[in-house]
Amino acid sequence: MTQIIDGKKISAEIKDELKQEVAAMKAEGKEIALAVIQVGEDPASSVYVRNKKKACEYIGITSVSYEIPEDSTQQELLDLVEKCNKDPKINGILVQLPLPPHMDEDAVIHAIDPKKDVDGFHPVSVGNMVIGNDGFLPCTPAGIIELLKRSGVEIGGKECVVVGRSNIVGKPMSMLLLRENGTVTVCHSRTRNLREVCSRADILVVAVGRPKFIDASYVKEGAVIIDVGIHRNENNKLCGDVDFDAVKEKTSAITPVPGGVGPMTIAMLMKNCVQSKKLFGE
Ligand code: GUN
Repeated sequence: MTQIIDGKKISAEIKDELKQEVAAMKAEGKEIALAVIQVGEDPASSVYVRNKKKACEYIGITSVSYEIPEDSTQQELLDLVEKCNKDPKINGILVQLPLPPHMDEDAVIHAIDPKKDVDGFHPVSVGNMVIGNDGFLPCTPAGIIELLKRSGVEIGGKECVVVGRSNIVGKPMSMLLLRENGTVTVCHSRTRNLREVCSRADILVVAVGRPKFIDASYVKEGAVIIDVGIHRNENNKLCGDVDFDAVKEKTSAITPVPGGVGPMTIAMLMKNCVQSKKLFGE
């Protein structure tokens, strides 16, 4: 029987655990606040931002919203980040990506105080993750590790194949699987024999950004499949990078889209906010 990995349920459990922890911290006078910065009004970004603020409210974290216009200058955004860096009441800073094309995302990520880098994108956070020091882990890959662990999937010694090498998902995912003692292969657009490499995987994580790209021919019998993609198909229905119906029977466990990886990203962002207060809050 295939196990459908329920990201909605697992993320709700994590949020409930965090809610209790935050309540206990509040009782000691420790308040947590997240600055949420959105530039422009990209509809997908607005949905993500709204969900992040809702999660804050549920858990008991104050969210401080900054919505600045699409045509703001890079300097205006950097000044806002600096204001949040200096504000002792703010524990985490989230700048929703993507930024408008006239802005330099790298420069903005660099400007965030690493002690408030709850997205885990700053080079200091990336370095700490690679070394294995305490710090902020990037939310989507960290959420996937949590999904695997809480679904009883052993990572140690397994053949793990990651398809995609973005800074947000693929690269950090490979590092976190390595930290869990997986044997990790990272594939990308230049990989030869992609199908053959994927069919070696005990755990296959797909983040290619192409709808239903992975069919049954890429999947080993009994593999665990994690689908990071999210797309709207021709019937306006959500689907992932994996052809769920075509591969499901072949897998031992698989994440659905929606309701798999997506909800975990926000739960891990909330965890990083709590972590920030614990590591660096006064
Ligand atoms: N855009 C897509 N994913 C993310 C994320 O995890 N964090 C931020 N800040 N922007 C995103």
